[in-house]
Amino acid sequence: MKTEPVVFAVHDTYHIMVPVTTESMMWVKIGEKEYYDESNGIMRSRTRIHRMIVPRKELNEAKSYTICEEEIVERKAYYTETGEITETTFAFRPVKNGPVRCYHISDTHNKSVEPVQAAKTYGEIDFLIMNGDIPDSSDKIEYFDTIYEIAAGVTHGQIPVVFARGNHDLRGLCAEMIADYTPNENGLTYYSFRIGDIWGIALDCAEDKDDTSVEYGHTVRCHAFRERQTAFIKRVIADKEYLEPGVKRRIVVVHNPFTMRHKGIFDIETETYSEWARLLKEHIKPDVMICGHMHYLDIHMPGCEQDNLGQPCPVIVGATVKYKEPYFAGAGIEFGEDEVVVSFTDNEGATLGVHTIKL
Ligand SMILES: [Fe+2]
Repeated sequence: MKTEPVVFAVHDTYHIMVPVTTESMMWVKIGEKEYYDESNGIMRSRTRIHRMIVPRKELNEAKSYTICEEEIVERKAYYTETGEITETTFAFRPVKNGPVRCYHISDTHNKSVEPVQAAKTYGEIDFLIMNGDIPDSSDKIEYFDTIYEIAAGVTHGQIPVVFARGNHDLRGLCAEMIADYTPNENGLTYYSFRIGDIWGIALDCAEDKDDTSVEYGHTVRCHAFRERQTAFIKRVIADKEYLEPGVKRRIVVVHNPFTMRHKGIFDIETETYSEWARLLKEHIKPDVMICGHMHYLDIHMPGCEQDNLGQPCPVIVGATVKYKEPYFAGAGIEFGEDEVVVSFTDNEGATLGVHTIKL
């Protein structure tokens, strides 16, 4: 194992993901049951990362899981040689109902030490949100390691992580493979999730300029991708999953605060984003939308200067970074009974502001 496992919340499952340094096969034991990293019955070993998908309820009840790794000496068509099986057990603390605390990290742009320190400044948390642009680009497979170094550093595989993709994640030679290295639902980078009594939806605005931008050289087709997400949001509304018994709060996690219009070449998709905002506002009625992308720390309240396309709720913009200095700040978010308290903290131990959003 290259890092401790990371337990991502995806729909009604957890994706337990573990980056590895050598070829191995992997599975996870929860109580009596085993869940394998396999492809149509074949145990996967030609990979730098393992993914075991487990039912949320089962891990929540068991409160621990055991990662089993079997080394591959030589994989052959017949009589594959394998080495030892190692077993490592991790405690797991599912998110409780009632008041909970999480930390939001995005836009770390390759930094892996400072974001963990900034989360420590905030203190104990129940879950972590990773909201895009964690590596500066997806140019090399090893760049995805930053995601796991931060997630393992903060959670040690013991609490859940919510993940959403950022615009920089679409760039580079390995960008087309990012879904293999991150949580996704059947290959899709947008999905719903459930954390205690919080129901959430992770959305993906993808690139931040038009598909025709010369910067991309014809390598993206994000407009069609966003249209499929409009259909996804409509399906979620039809299913009414967010009204399930036990759901007390609803959140949106998305890298780009898409309800504000950006300037110049970044002013795109106003029609699509207005439609997303309308659907969220009229049907899902989220408590807060949690974003990064802007490299500043702020709360955009409905009707404010940045509310250009009809915010469905308050928008927390919660991360900033200094590229050339060892500096990162993120957002601690406490979900109370009738308020959300946001504390912006940095890696130098400072709390930069505390804001209470009344629900
Ligand atoms: Fe960024």
